[in-house]
Amino acid sequence: MADLLGMDPERIGRLRSPDRLAYFDPAKIWQVLQPGPDCTLVDIGAGVGFLTLPFAKAYPEAKAFGCDILEGMVGLLARDAADQGLDNLQALLMRPSAIDLPDGCADLITMAQLHHELDAPKPLMAECRRLLAPGGTVAVIDWKDEENGKSPAKGRRVPEATIRAHLTGAGFKDIQSHDIYEFHGFITAS
Ligand SMILES: C[S@@+](CC[C@H](N)C(=O)[O-])C[C@H]1O[C@@H](n2cnc3c(N)ncnc32)[C@H](O)[C@@H]1O
Repeated sequence: MADLLGMDPERIGRLRSPDRLAYFDPAKIWQVLQPGPDCTLVDIGAGVGFLTLPFAKAYPEAKAFGCDILEGMVGLLARDAADQGLDNLQALLMRPSAIDLPDGCADLITMAQLHHELDAPKPLMAECRRLLAPGGTVAVIDWKDEENGKSPAKGRRVPEATIRAHLTGAGFKDIQSHDIYEFHGFITAS
């Protein structure tokens, strides 16, 4: 049994729940982003790897970094990657807006259900800009800002316009919204 380091087991259960696949299937993300076979993904706020684990499995030649600020999440992700024999996935403990990876290393950056938890989105967006390789894509997926029975309560949701402003403020271009999920917004930028 991994040490949960004080994390709420119910939250971990929710993040791992296969029920999420019915409305938030990560495979749809890759259909939009079209990862190259040997690309490098940096998944920020990876949690227990709801996106990172299936990505590493689907793209065995690719490299995946699952980054989180909670040691317990990183520990669980590392353990699950090892259990599944995914040696192309590295779980990485990060600081809130700093990841110990070199400039321009990422072809793809994903942030799923993270934005509404951020205390300081602007420096994290700047960190994404530093990490993204020329021609790379950053994808922000978070709950829609509406009452739909799944999104968190008003005040804990981030309007799409705000996410777009954060991306623009960090210098990202070609900002596009993709209507692929019922309860989540999905925005890409390069
Ligand atoms: C709601 S969970 C989503 C996890 C995963 N992306 C998923 O969809 O299952 C949000 C995660 O973001 C992490 N987190 C919160 N603030 C963060 C920050 N500034 N940088 C990186 N991770 C952060 C939390 O520890 C948590 O694991």
